[in-house]
Amino acid sequence: MTVTESLGALEERARRQTGTFGDGALIVCDSLVRIYQSEGVEVQALQGLDLLVQSGELVAIVGASGSGKSTLLAVLSGLDVPTAGRVRVGPWDLMSMTAKQRVDYRRSMVGFVWQQTARNIVPYLTSTENVAFPMALAGMKRRAREKRAADLLDVLGVGYCADRRPAQMSGGEQQRVAIAVALANSPEVLFADEPTGELDTATSHDVLEGLRTVNRELGTTVVVVTHDAGVSEHVQRTVAIRDGRTSSEVLRRTHTAEDGTQSVVAEEYAVLDRAGRVQLPREYRQTLDLVGRVRLALESSHVSVWPDRPMPQRPPSGHGEHGPHGRAHGEPPTRTGRHAAVPAPTTAPTTTPGTTSSTTDEEAPR
Ligand SMILES: Nc1ncnc2c1ncn2[C@@H]1O[C@H](COP(=O)(O)OP(=O)(O)O)[C@@H](O)[C@H]1O
Ligand SMILES: [Mg+2]
Repeated sequence: MTVTESLGALEERARRQTGTFGDGALIVCDSLVRIYQSEGVEVQALQGLDLLVQSGELVAIVGASGSGKSTLLAVLSGLDVPTAGRVRVGPWDLMSMTAKQRVDYRRSMVGFVWQQTARNIVPYLTSTENVAFPMALAGMKRRAREKRAADLLDVLGVGYCADRRPAQMSGGEQQRVAIAVALANSPEVLFADEPTGELDTATSHDVLEGLRTVNRELGTTVVVVTHDAGVSEHVQRTVAIRDGRTSSEVLRRTHTAEDGTQSVVAEEYAVLDRAGRVQLPREYRQTLDLVGRVRLALESSHVSVWPDRPMPQRPPSGHGEHGPHGRAHGEPPTRTGRHAAVPAPTTAPTTTPGTTSSTTDEEAPR
C-alpha cells in the first residue's frame, strides 16, 4: 500500500456514514440549545451540548454555577423543552412528546432528586409512607408497596428511618429517603440535581454512595449534577460542562499491575463535539500563548495544534533534536499540515515528503 492510498483510505473512512449519532445509547443529547428570554435579554443556557449516556452508567455532571447543569437536567427530566437540537431518552423523543406522553414519561421512565429536601419528601409522612405514595398513585396494592418501600429504604441504608418523619432525620438521611421515593416506580433513569448541595462533606459522601449502590444493585442509570468536583472520586465517569457545552470528561478505571496490585487511575479527556469543536484547557492556551488562529496538523495517530507564529530556534545539538524526516521538534507544519497515514512516532510531529507538494496557500489551515 502506498502512502497516498493510505491517506485516501483515511479520508474515505472520515466521509463514511456511521449511523445516527447516539444509536444504542440510553440518553442522547445532540447539539442541544436552550435560550431563555427574560426582560428582553437573551441567555444561552445550552449552546450546542452533546452528551451520550449508556444504559447502566453512573455519570456525574460538574461545572461552575450558571454553566447550564440544571437546564440540562430540566430538559432530560421532561420539565423543559430545548430551543433546538435533538434529545432522546430510551424510546422517548423529548422534543416531540405530547403533554400526555410527557406525564407518562415522568411517571414511568425517570425519577428525580432535587437539592431542596423539602421538594422531594412530604413533611407529615413517614419515610415508608413517602416512598409508598408514588406507588399508590400508580395503583400498586398496599402489601406490595409496603414491601417495596422497606426494600428500597434498606438498599439506601436508611431502613432504620422507616417510621420517622423528615423532621426526625438528618439532611443526609432525608436525601437518601428522597432517592428511595424517586425509585418507587422503578424508573430506568434517576436524575439528581445537586442532591448534596445543602449537606456537609461526610453526609454528601453517604448520599453519593447511596446513588452508587442504587446504580450497582438495582441497575438504574444515574445522572447526578453537582458543582462539587470531589464527586469524581465516587463515579467512573465525570462530565464537565462549561458555557452550556460538555468540555471534558474524567474516566476512572481500575488498573491491575503485573504483581496483581490494583489502583484506580483517573484520566482526563477533552470532548470533541458533533461539529468537531474541542475546548483547549486554559493552561494549555496560556502556556503556548495560543490565541485566534492556530495551525492543525493531521498525523497518522493524532492531531496537533500549533501557534500561528515562528517558533523560537532551538540550539543545535548532535542528536535527539530532529524528527525522522528532518524537521526539528517543536517546528510547525509548513504547508497544509495534512499528512499521510504512515506509521510515525507519536511524540514528534512529522512531515512526509511527497504528499504535500501540491499544497497552495488556500489549503492552509485558518
Ligand atoms: N428560567 C430562566 N430564565 C432566564 N435565565 C435562566 C433561567 N434558568 C436559567 N437561566 C440562566 O441560564 C444559565 C444556566 O443556568 P443553570 O442551568 O441553572 O446553571 P447551573 O445549574 O449550572 O448553575 C444561567 O446563566 C442562568 O442565569
Ligand atoms: Mg443548578
